[in-house]
Amino acid sequence: MNDDAMSGHLSGRAVLAGIMGWPVGHSLSPRLHGFWLRQHRIDGAYVPLAVEPGNLAQALHALPALGFRGVNLTIPHKEPALAMVDRVTPVAARIGAVNTVVVTADGLLGDNTDGYGFMASLAAGAPGWRAADGPAALLGAGGAARAIAVALIDAGAPELRLVNRTQERAEALAGQIGDIAREHGAALAVLPWQGGDALAGASLLVNTTSLGMTGQPPLEIDLQSLPRAALVTDIVYSPLETGLLAAARARGHAVVDGLGMLLHQARPGFHAWFGVDPEVSEALCATVLAGLG
Ligand code: ATR
Repeated sequence: MNDDAMSGHLSGRAVLAGIMGWPVGHSLSPRLHGFWLRQHRIDGAYVPLAVEPGNLAQALHALPALGFRGVNLTIPHKEPALAMVDRVTPVAARIGAVNTVVVTADGLLGDNTDGYGFMASLAAGAPGWRAADGPAALLGAGGAARAIAVALIDAGAPELRLVNRTQERAEALAGQIGDIAREHGAALAVLPWQGGDALAGASLLVNTTSLGMTGQPPLEIDLQSLPRAALVTDIVYSPLETGLLAAARARGHAVVDGLGMLLHQARPGFHAWFGVDPEVSEALCATVLAGLG
């Protein structure tokens, strides 16, 4: 610790990391990593980097020369980056996307911590729940759904039910994760949004769509056939208590909000870049939520 680090002044040896996105201005990651940097009095900075899609490869390859330890990636860079880094972790390859890049002696390592963040958030928010307990119903078929589907299969979910407005996208997702499901003996089903009874007998319901987010249409789903013992979670964190979570809570379900996934997915990157495994605390949650305005 020194006075400069405490007051946010950087030395010439400051450790650097950041987030590349386009746009990147809305990202809460600088606030989140900034909290941990101050908490641990680290001489370092985590900065937003607005990188146009066409400049991603150049920007990534400049990281070592700029002295960066690595970056997070957000929309629209997660999938293209897979082919731009020197190595990828097995989980990033399985998910087909990179959200965390670490500069190593052997070049750029691409990792994906979204699935880890999801599972860690459930472990913290619903410690009694186990993926192996029963089928999981997933709403959505985008990048977030793919990371969560892979994580649930890896954690022992016996069955995944994929539900999406555009059913062909759910079928495409089932095709992408089919081999992983077979390896683990997990059943995969694509069910219609209406009337498909994806919820009957399920032990988990996850919303991975943007429905219910501030400014987006509400998520309308009838929870009647969902067993009361099922856990309900949403990756939307603005608002924290989405309509889905409020409806589930009213029926007596355990619920986990979307903030935990955002916070926990950030931990492995912070550890790799700054050498400290940081904690997800109430004070961190309050600081990050304040950034939602
Ligand atoms: P991400 O990578 O964050 O998952 P994405 O790939 O844009 O983002 O996926 C967004 C998800 O929200 C999709 O499942 C999308 O459904 P479609 O595949 O049918 O587009 C879903 N979604 C977004 N707006 C929706 C709406 N108004 N009604 C139903 N689903 C919606």
